[in-house]
Order: sequence, then structure tokens, then C-alpha cells
Amino acid sequence: MLIQGLKRLEYRGYDSAGVVVANNGHLEVRKEAGKIVELEKLLQSDPAEGTYGIGHTRWATHGPPTTRNAHPHVSENGDFALVHNGIIENAGTLRKVLQDRGHVFSSDTDTEVLVHLIEEVYTTADGRAGESLERAVETALSQVEGTYGIAVVSTRDPGKIVVARLGSPLLIGVGENGETFVASDAAAVIAHTRDVIYLDDGDMATITKKGYTVHRPKSGPVSRPVNRVDWDLGEVERGGYDHFMLKEIMEQPSTLRETMRGRLLEDEGSVKLGGLTGMDDELRQAKRVVILGCGTSWHSGLIGEYLLEDIARIPTEVEYASEFRYRRAVVEPETLAIAISQSGETADTLWAMREAKQQGATTLGVVNAVGGTIPRETDAGIYLHAGPEIGVASTKAFTSQVVVLTMMTIHLGRLRGTLSQSRGREIVRALRQLPEQVAEILKMDNEIRALAEQYKDSKNFLYLGRGYNFPAALEGALKLKEISYIHAEGYPAAEMKHGPIALIDENMPVVVIAPRDGVYDKVRSNIDEVKARGGCIIAVVSEDDEELAGVVEHVIRIPRTHDALTPILASIPLQLLAYHIAVLRGANVDQPRNLAKSVTVE
Ligand code: AGP
Repeated sequence: MLIQGLKRLEYRGYDSAGVVVANNGHLEVRKEAGKIVELEKLLQSDPAEGTYGIGHTRWATHGPPTTRNAHPHVSENGDFALVHNGIIENAGTLRKVLQDRGHVFSSDTDTEVLVHLIEEVYTTADGRAGESLERAVETALSQVEGTYGIAVVSTRDPGKIVVARLGSPLLIGVGENGETFVASDAAAVIAHTRDVIYLDDGDMATITKKGYTVHRPKSGPVSRPVNRVDWDLGEVERGGYDHFMLKEIMEQPSTLRETMRGRLLEDEGSVKLGGLTGMDDELRQAKRVVILGCGTSWHSGLIGEYLLEDIARIPTEVEYASEFRYRRAVVEPETLAIAISQSGETADTLWAMREAKQQGATTLGVVNAVGGTIPRETDAGIYLHAGPEIGVASTKAFTSQVVVLTMMTIHLGRLRGTLSQSRGREIVRALRQLPEQVAEILKMDNEIRALAEQYKDSKNFLYLGRGYNFPAALEGALKLKEISYIHAEGYPAAEMKHGPIALIDENMPVVVIAPRDGVYDKVRSNIDEVKARGGCIIAVVSEDDEELAGVVEHVIRIPRTHDALTPILASIPLQLLAYHIAVLRGANVDQPRNLAKSVTVE
């Protein structure tokens, strides 16, 4: 039952999995790196019997995807075990305190501090905390900062599963024959019941063979409504969306929050990037940065080049990883090589990074999937924490990559004295507003869909942008061509005069990214040049722009933000435009022809 449930969650990412079942007063734990089928094989060769238990399929956020890092995590004496979704931000501090009290850790994860903390509280606390597993969990969680969806079992208080939710989803499945389930996603229980109770943040619950109770630490028992899940399994895996790509576009407000969680230092006008700890000397002394990537990661790298030169004043260039590797590039001493890769497995990027490293560069990774090959081989790096990206067309990873590159730029600028505290504060404040602004833009989904209806049969598109939005134009074009199979090109707006303008006619939609930034007037004149040739323009403009509305065929309005962050906001409507055109053309949006999510061959 646990394995089948975990298999239903596999689409959310897996790199290791485990179960624990309670049997006559002791806990049987089985866990294994790799796909869930590996865990299944382990259980076939070494079965675990029990009447209740918990399982977990991991998408690593802290610590590589190894067996020892797989959940469940267990206390030293094997009396307590738990599984956890989310990020414990004060794990480092708690780990040290617990180690000082003699707890022995066996993994690199943030999660493990929880099981030791609960055991510590249960066994040493006076009075109530040692009363029950619920009390111990409640007391322990009062010391935790971060997000969690956890399930805990213990031989000290057998026959129950205690769960708690803060910032990471949890639900209770109410079985038809009296059995009770708890899961992070309806997909895991839908084979047994469609009656689920979605816990709220701050809720705790106790599951026993008699049923369940929900309570809140301060206010005691609460009742939560039972909902009927009417989705089919496919939909549940996509969270109710028709495609993973749309789900990932729509979850960007929360993924951007996760990318920035615990990393913005607004008062100091700076950032805290744990992954760069101990690298200050290399970062301060760096004479040049070379950014390596492919596809969308190359586009975010181009924004990184503009950021690092504009704000941190470091000579920077971005290279197609596949070109860098074979052109006998010169890597001088004190070079920082930044490898950007959502999957962390792209062969072109991996080998280019190895080439730069071999020539003496300090290598940094900007990666989403934790523990992959690139993060294992770079000297340091920063994870996106955007959660698994299933759709082949990269969306949430792109916007999180640009946010990470912006935070890295702030860090370098403050470290090297090229960014003042007040300018740093401006950018940090603008970053903090992004999730809400993206949520605003996503409300235009129907408007963008109507636009897609109008242009879905075009044969060619041209995307134009300048400055920070030139890479956004490239990214908009890539999104369209890779899922709708319409030919689309991105160009610097001014460059259009040097050739592509010959293509302009009334049948070629021209998407122009023209927010009120430092190059607005220049883009405005490029728009006039396109209009003079009878071109049809879709302009992405700032929400208060009245000037362009009367000049172009369509305007898509985005909120004002720092110039350097405009490409993030501009890319959202372009993701939706590409998505809806592809859907209207009947294309296979999540698995476009000829493409793969991670290109692990040259
Ligand atoms: C982007 O939508 C494409 N899926 C593709 O260009 C992708 O960005 C490229 O293959 C790089 O992948 P990576 O970020 O996992 O290295």
C-alpha cells in the first residue's frame, strides 16, 4: 500500500525513497536511492511486515540523493521515525545543539534534526511534552523555522501516526472501510478513497486504527470538512491542470518565494547564500566570469552577464556550453565559471564546466535538481529550490535561475564594493515583490489565451527586446518554437534593422518587450520602424504606459519593477502565449516532438 502510494507521487520527483512500518514494538525501516522500483526490489528481498507505517519519495533539497539521505529518518535508538516535505531553515543551529547533547547524525539532510529533536523532547522534557507523541511533536516544532509536512511514528507511543503541516501540503484520506490515510497529495490515496481532508497550515492530526483527530497547538481540537476528490489520477498528478507546463507556469509565485526563502537581507541590502560559504576570497579576487549553459539556461545566463557587468562591474561573458568546450577558449587565472543547468545533467554544460575547471577556473553551479552531476563536481553553487520541473519547456526554472543570478550579483557587488547598501536594498525590495507581481500577471491568462487564438496559425514570429529584455526575447521565441513548432526568432530590437526587417509584413507577428526601462525610447523607435513596414505588433509594456497602446495592435501590461528584473515579469505572458498557441494547435505540450527534458548526450 505504501509503495503503490509512493508510485503515485513519483511525478513530483524522486531520487530516493523509503518506508517504515511498525511491527510488535519495533520499527522496520527500508530505504534506497534511485527510483521507487529500487525500494520495491529491496522489500522483495528483505520484506517488512507491519500494521501501520509511513513512506516518502524524496526530491532532494539538502544533501545528495543517497540511501542514507533518503527518508524516513530515524532516532539513534530506532524508537522514532519520520518523513518530511519542506525546508528547515534553522536546521544548522538545531543540529549543533542536538549534537552537543550527544545526538549522532547519520545524514546530510535538514530533515534529520526533526527526529532527534522530537526524541530529545519526548525523553527529557518534564511534564506534558513527554505525555504523548503529539505533545512531543508539537513542542519540537515550536523550535523549528521553515516549512514542513511531516508524519511521525514511535514505538514509545505505538499505534498512531502524528502529522503536522506548515507550508507544505498534507491531507487525510478517509477510507470506506474505516482505514485512514495521510498523504501530501491526493494522488497517493485516490486508489483507496476519494474522501480527503485538506489540513490547514498550523494543523496537527493523529491517525489511529480508530480514525483521526485534527487539532491546533494553541486552540485544541478542530474539525475540517471532508472533500470529494473528483479528479482522475492523471489530473491529480498535474494538480488539476491540463499540463505540467501550465502547472509550473502557475506555481511561479510560490517557486520564486521558495528560491528566495531565507536568502534576502533587506536591511543590509544584501543576501545570504549558504551555497557560497567559504568562497569569499575567490569571489572577491575574480577577474572575469564565464557563464556556461544551453537553451533556456543560456538565456538566463545572458541576463546574468548583463547583471554582473551592470551591477557588480565584473567582466562577464556567456557561452553556449557546446561551443565553449571545443573552441580552445582561453580561461585566465581568477576566472569564475558559472554552470547553469535545471537538471544538473546536461552533457554539453557538464563538459564545458569540466573544461573550465581543468583550466583552473573556480566553478559554481546554478542548478535545480539537488545532488546531480554538475552540483557534485562544481566547487560551490546555489540551488533553485523550485521543485521538480516536469514539462520539457522550462518555465519556473528560468525565472528562478534569473532570481538566483540576481542574488549572486548582489552578493558579489556588496562583497567587492561595487554595489552600495542603498542600491542593494532597492534590488532586494524589488525581488521581494516579484511573487505578488507574477501572481498579478498570471490573472491575464484568459487575455493571453484570446491573443493565442488570433495568432496560432502564424508561420513565423519575431521577438524583439533590448538590454535586459533582449534575452527575454530569445527565451520567448524558444518557448514558442519548441512546443508549437512555429518558427520564431529573438533579436536585439535595434539589430532588426540589419536584416530581419526584410521579413516584416502583416503576416508576421512581432512581439516587442518594451517596459519603461532605461532603453524604452530606443525600443519605441524600433517599434515605429516595424510599424512603417506594416508589421503587426504585440507589445509587452509597463502597466502605466499609455503611449504605446495607440500605436501597436496589442499590449500586454506588466507591473513596474527594477530594470534588471523586468525580464522575469516579461517572460510570464510569453510563457502563457507559447503554451496556449501550442494547446490550440493540438501539440504535445509536455513532451514536444524530438525533445527531452534533460539532454545527457552531446
Ligand atoms: C528549454 O525550454 C529547453 N527544455 C532546453 O533548452 C533546456 O533549457 C536545455 O536543454 C538546458 O537544460 P538544463 O537547464 O537542464 O541544463
